[in-house]
Amino acid sequence: MRIGFIGAGKVATAFGRYLHGHGVTIGGYFDRHAEKSTHAATATGSQACRDGAQLAGISDVVLITTRDDQIQPACEELCRQEAIQAHHCVGHMSGAHGSLILDAAGRRGAAVFSLHPLQAFAQEEKALADLAHTWFSLEGSNPRLSDIETLMARTGNRCLRLPPEGKPLYHLAACIFSNYLVTLMAHGMRALAKSGIDPMQGFEAMRPLIEGTIANIGRWGPAKALTGPIARGDRSTLAHHLQALAAAQDAELKALYTFMGLKTLDLALQDVLKEPDKAEAVRKALEGNYP
Ligand SMILES: NC(=O)c1ccc[n+]([C@@H]2O[C@H](COP(=O)([O-])OP(=O)(O)OC[C@H]3O[C@@H](n4cnc5c(N)ncnc54)[C@H](OP(=O)(O)O)[C@@H]3O)[C@@H](O)[C@H]2O)c1
Repeated sequence: MRIGFIGAGKVATAFGRYLHGHGVTIGGYFDRHAEKSTHAATATGSQACRDGAQLAGISDVVLITTRDDQIQPACEELCRQEAIQAHHCVGHMSGAHGSLILDAAGRRGAAVFSLHPLQAFAQEEKALADLAHTWFSLEGSNPRLSDIETLMARTGNRCLRLPPEGKPLYHLAACIFSNYLVTLMAHGMRALAKSGIDPMQGFEAMRPLIEGTIANIGRWGPAKALTGPIARGDRSTLAHHLQALAAAQDAELKALYTFMGLKTLDLALQDVLKEPDKAEAVRKALEGNYP
């Protein structure tokens, strides 16, 4: 099975090198910047192609690794040129889009898919190193995608499978895990700053707690990993927090604290908090302060 890439940026070049290192044959690259095609092709013992049609002609799997907004037009252009045939698997590596944006190729009988590495790649060499421990998601419904699973089994990377209709919520989940985690940390640092601690130094001090909590979620799941005053149904500690929030006069922090507190209470009731009267007192205190 020969893999060809349209777009020879960071992801395509690093992934091609990674696959090549695992004995997968790379057919070639086409990028609208010829020097990028040459660099990636040289690094993978493959061909720098003059256009997309030539690339498709020498590939069984065509991966469109342009930026997201160029994926659909690039696919449609290949289809207009009749470069995509029924024997092809055509995919992209975006997290935000599903395989439906490759519908033009699907209508020509190709098996369409998206293969998303759950990783941020800012630079080729770092990306190559990170790929060894990167999970992927493979989305699409064509039975021929077992070929892509076989390909990923060859590198040993683990793969989440999902149907086309699941892709938007999968991407939303990745945004919660990554982007919203940053927002949550920023609010923790905001509370530290108000307590008189330097936020970056405070973050370093909290780091073992943060990383230990993440490890516990991985070990036991979120409901059992929960600790702290809400998990204990400790109404009086909560009252101290709410007083401190009132004194800090920070409405945004209060909104976040009470909303997250209510979600934390729901989670606590799934496992660690067994006393309904304590839970009710905590809920009343939080709801009474929720904007
Ligand atoms: N970077 C990440 O952290 C990351 C992580 C996971 C997934 N991904 C996904 O991986 C894909 C590639 O991302 P990337 O960061 O590697 O992009 P990139 O570095 O910007 O590379 C894309 C390359 O494709 C070229 N290109 C654009 N349209 C083309 C066309 N029609 N024909 C030929 N070449 C074309 C671009 O040229 P121009 O610069 O002139 O446009 C550029 O050289 C995206 O779908 C992205 O969502 C990225």
